[in-house]
Amino acid sequence: MNKYIADWTVKENIRIHRDCSFLKLTLDDEIPEIFPGQFVQIKVEDSPATFLRRPISIHFVDREKHELWLLIQAIGDGTRKLAASKVGDRLNIIYPLGNYFSLPEDWDNPPIVTEGALNEAKPLLVGGGVGVAPLLYLGYQLAALGYKPTFLLGAKSIADLLQIAEFEKLGDIYVTTEDGSAGEKGFVTGHSVLQSEKFDFIYTCGPKPMMVAVAKYAKQNNIECEVSLENKMACGIGACLCCVEKTTYGNTCVCTSGPVFNINQLTWQI
Ligand SMILES: Cc1cc2nc3c(=O)[nH]c(=O)nc-3n(C[C@H](O)[C@H](O)[C@H](O)COP(=O)(O)OP(=O)(O)OC[C@H]3O[C@@H](n4cnc5c(N)ncnc54)[C@H](O)[C@@H]3O)c2cc1C
Ligand code: FES
Repeated sequence: MNKYIADWTVKENIRIHRDCSFLKLTLDDEIPEIFPGQFVQIKVEDSPATFLRRPISIHFVDREKHELWLLIQAIGDGTRKLAASKVGDRLNIIYPLGNYFSLPEDWDNPPIVTEGALNEAKPLLVGGGVGVAPLLYLGYQLAALGYKPTFLLGAKSIADLLQIAEFEKLGDIYVTTEDGSAGEKGFVTGHSVLQSEKFDFIYTCGPKPMMVAVAKYAKQNNIECEVSLENKMACGIGACLCCVEKTTYGNTCVCTSGPVFNINQLTWQI
């Protein structure tokens, strides 16, 4: 898949959380095909401490409007600088990077659906914190194909739930918060919807302990599951080996073989 490098213009920067910004970027040229789960590497200008580009998930792509959406959680110098971008700023971006989520029909064992049509199968998309970022574009693509996505989103508190209004446009939403300020109290894997409904496939992105717990649930219930890993990265092109993940087929770079993996490829204890 071809990679591109271009200067994108910041069209909007909306502070949606104490330390999370929602950026809409535009490009004068056509946007190439980009798939849900892929990411970009952004150069951080005027930040001597941030020599390397920073990997950020593709939150949404609107090819008609030439827009790319990103969610940036400011946790260090690089993301603080990106989150503080001003309208009109130019961001130098390499895109699209990495592999992408599989659609149910691409899997070795597509779900068996009694009603007949594959798109009657029920996808569950589980996100935690800023890990919800790649799930919006995935949910959009699934909905466009006729699936009805269910989102299960977790956060520490109500203020930490991100982009709920955007997810609500695409499917059913269930929420957990650790303090009980919204939805059910606790972690996503404790939500009652996992007992009351049957899902045919699961996609997840968020903190590793959450993804491991989701993978365990999927395994126990014999449900296909893909996870999007956010290992620390440097080069983003498979050269420095700092993003290596152990898999059933050996050590592999998450930046080139991932970030999306089927749980059966991982050596997690699940
Ligand atoms: C494929 C991929 C997709 C990502 N998508 C997003 C996204 O959509 N939105 C977003 O806000 N962030 C995302 N991240 C995480 C983001 O890249 C890091 O937070 C960022 O690189 C940190 O850079 P910094 O200069 O701000 O912080 P640094 O000063 O480099 O680090 C600050 C602290 O964060 C830790 N850290 C650095 N990288 C990571 C990481 N990958 N995971 C966890 N902790 C890290 C460091 O160890 C350090 O403690 C993604 C990462 C990957 C690999
Ligand atoms: S980030 Fe350098 S090999 Fe993956």
